Amino acid sequence: MFKEVRDDGKFIDENRQGEAFFKLDDKVQSGNKKVYIESYGCQMNFNDSEIVAAIMREDGYSATRNIDDADLIFVNTCSIRDKAEKTLLKRLTEFQVYKKNNKDLKVGVLGCMAERLKEEFLENKVVDLVVGPDAYRSLPELVEWSKHGNKGINVHLSKEETYDDITPVRLDENGVSAFISITRGCNNMCSFCVVPYTRGRERSRNAFSIVAEAVDLFGKGYREVTLLGQNVDSYLWENPETKEQISFAKLLEMVAEVNPLLRVRFATSHPKDMVDEVIYTMAKHKNICKYIHLPVQSGNSRVLELMNRTYTREWYLERVKKIYEIIPDIAISSDMIAGFCTETEDEHKDTLSIMKEANYSMSYMFYYSERPRTKAEKTLEDDVPLEVKKRRLSEIIRLQNQLSFEHNKNDIGKVFEVLIEGDSKKSDNEFKGRNSQNKVIIFPKEEGLGIGDYTYVKVLDATSATLIGKIEK
Ligand code: SAH
Ligand code: SF4
Ligand code: F3S
Repeated sequence: MFKEVRDDGKFIDENRQGEAFFKLDDKVQSGNKKVYIESYGCQMNFNDSEIVAAIMREDGYSATRNIDDADLIFVNTCSIRDKAEKTLLKRLTEFQVYKKNNKDLKVGVLGCMAERLKEEFLENKVVDLVVGPDAYRSLPELVEWSKHGNKGINVHLSKEETYDDITPVRLDENGVSAFISITRGCNNMCSFCVVPYTRGRERSRNAFSIVAEAVDLFGKGYREVTLLGQNVDSYLWENPETKEQISFAKLLEMVAEVNPLLRVRFATSHPKDMVDEVIYTMAKHKNICKYIHLPVQSGNSRVLELMNRTYTREWYLERVKKIYEIIPDIAISSDMIAGFCTETEDEHKDTLSIMKEANYSMSYMFYYSERPRTKAEKTLEDDVPLEVKKRRLSEIIRLQNQLSFEHNKNDIGKVFEVLIEGDSKKSDNEFKGRNSQNKVIIFPKEEGLGIGDYTYVKVLDATSATLIGKIEK
């Protein structure tokens, strides 16, 4: 780490300025201690790991992809379903081997499980540090503390922390797309969901720091940013000087105006906050991608009420209709939970029918997993038998596969603007890219085009997961 003093006496922090996106193996940019970070859960957690990497780099740690090299192992954890937590606990036991081989190795549990289980982890032999999502600035100090044989814990949840001054170190870099967190926490209190307990209250990040990050990324060659939050549409930031309030629609516009060549995506949208202004802003700017992830969770109004989603089936479908009306070529995707407390067979069928009506291009699908402390756990009975949950889920998945296949087949013959993201997994002779609707398209390479370029591709064929095409001149 090198700091330089400018003529005017101010520090120029070489590690912060200019090269937020260093290569992992680029030893010049960092100290010789190594941190290995393993991430689970949502995109926000992955973005948090990039913030953690930036904080640790200030303390002389470079990120490594090789666990055998590590002086420090961080696991950034997820509590959303019981299975996610079980997987992690098993993974922790595997770290014992590394600790045996390297007596100085420290292991830290970060993220949502750290927040949920707190001191419980300190009883675990493998774990030296337990640090919640709002306490990452204290990591260097806690690591130091742990080196003296202490256990370090900080699970304080903040009402203000947004890490807005920290430029994330891009860990999973393809050099084309990057995440920018715009809100943290969640105020919604869906009855099934643990997130409000692990991430705390919702807060919105300074709009100018978001735009500055987008400008910086564009300058580095990035061509796509995804604005992240549990509920991006409720973004609201007040400029402390002018008192001007910046809504999500306004923020979207500000980021879209960074450069027409910078694609803007966002996730996740809570249907209750998907206001017309956002839809019109999307329609107005070509570079705001024509894709909305709008999780419905259930297609039945009684179940939605029990879930505390605050909308009905009819209200949701009206929003979907409005979106298709204003942006006819948009793709909408969703999340569904099968077998929520007291869900009947007919109510499950309502979920299947809303999927068809909304015509989702894709979905993330789960069966209900009861989470401690949530309203559902406290007040409702988790009474749908596991086999029934699993059967309902498989019906949802089967239907979504059909819908995705139809959706994709419908694109055959169309020409899309595609941002090239890299080589296709199967062949070096093919590129992989995505269209505005977030669909992956595979097509043969052509001379003169590379990663980060835009090109037009005609769709020739489709599976339920991918479009196959060729460059259209
Ligand atoms: N903030 C986002 C989603 C966060 S969690 C939203 O409001 O849509 C991602 C998804 O996990 C949720 O949309 C939901 O479908 C699923 N999920 C959350 N809690 C769950 C639980 N207890 N059991 C099963 N799935 C759950
Ligand atoms: Fe959980 Fe609901 Fe918040 Fe999404 S909106 S994170 S599902 S409480
Ligand atoms: Fe999981 Fe926490 Fe994200 S519970 S889904 S990592 S906010």
